[in-house]
Amino acid sequence: MTHKIAVLPGDGIGPEITEQAVRVLTALDLDLDLQTQPVGGAAYDVHGHPLPPVVLDLAKSSDAILFGAVGDWKYDTLARELRPEQAILGLRKALGLFANLRPAILYPQLANASSLKPEVVAGLNILIIRELTGDIYFGQPRGVREVAEGPFKGERQGFDTMHYAESEVRRIAHVAFQAAQKRSKKLCSVDKSNVLETSQFWREIVIEVAKEYPDVALSHMYIDNAAMQLVRAPKEFDVIVTGNLFGDILSDEAAMLTGSIGMLPSASLNSASQGLYEPSHGSAPDIAGKNLANPLATILSAAMLLRYSLGKAEQADRIESAVQKVLEQGLRTADIHEQGLTRVSTSEMGDAVLKALK
Ligand code: NAI
Ligand code: MG
Repeated sequence: MTHKIAVLPGDGIGPEITEQAVRVLTALDLDLDLQTQPVGGAAYDVHGHPLPPVVLDLAKSSDAILFGAVGDWKYDTLARELRPEQAILGLRKALGLFANLRPAILYPQLANASSLKPEVVAGLNILIIRELTGDIYFGQPRGVREVAEGPFKGERQGFDTMHYAESEVRRIAHVAFQAAQKRSKKLCSVDKSNVLETSQFWREIVIEVAKEYPDVALSHMYIDNAAMQLVRAPKEFDVIVTGNLFGDILSDEAAMLTGSIGMLPSASLNSASQGLYEPSHGSAPDIAGKNLANPLATILSAAMLLRYSLGKAEQADRIESAVQKVLEQGLRTADIHEQGLTRVSTSEMGDAVLKALK
């Protein structure tokens, strides 16, 4: 069966890093139909829109999307809806990509890059699952209004609305339990149910869904405590599931445990296992076009694509082992370079991963 993959390199370092991930995917002897289109600023330049119909149609009709990054200072003066960043928001919305998976793995060879003590983070390998399309980020009503009564009467007030529907909690819980089943069968659900109605409801539904996954050990933690435990003893966690707002914060915190943004992949999935896979970093315009960027986050995103959208776990493992191998060989792009190791360019890193695959 042929798998159709939309390749959307985007702006800045996007094309350079995506090229390396495509080389890796192509080397695996899978039946893939890779179709490339510009997105973000690059699409604006050609089509006058960051996510034109031709790109959206390709994305919708594909099994998975490999996305580089979008954004550049030169588009800062455009109207909001024409800015490159709207492409990623538009894709999330159009495809219903509600589950954001962000692994935080500290490779032993990069132990010095972590902001924590080696003994606290050595061997760290956790997965944060963030709900991506609900919560206070999208709640209505929202805005600024004049308060009619009470202690703030006559003042202007800014407000957002936090809510989660049962189906929204249910579907992210299923994704999380299934991910936990594939790992160490430990899931921690993070909320603020001592204060928030939405969180109490979240917890109730997660407990209900848990009955379908008796092999997974479920625990619960308040967000403030979770933020603390994540730096105190991060290895106590395996899979964490949480809402949009808490997940935004926790996943960035977890990223710092591994120290290097150039190493972190991500996946955003919908209920049909269609997914968008991209590095956690942006388009890095400061180093674009210089063959300096670290392509490993994008290459590892391609591995996630194989694992979560195509069901090719064996090939995903192969890519991840190859990345491990090049790190063992002492090869480093500038962002993760340490004295005494071999500094390589974007394309040389791609060459090395390809070689390690064989
Ligand atoms: P950024 O992640 O692009 O860069 C932050 C710093 O990390 C820079 O010094 C950059 O050189 C470095 N860096 C990032 N990725 C790297 C890699 N693979 N290898 C080596 N160094 C790397 O974040 P920044 O500067 O805040 O944003 C730049 C542009 O990217 C903006 O237009 C922003 O809107 C966009 N952006 C796009 C995202 C996406 O496409 N999903 C996500 C985040 C930002
Ligand atoms: Mg964030």
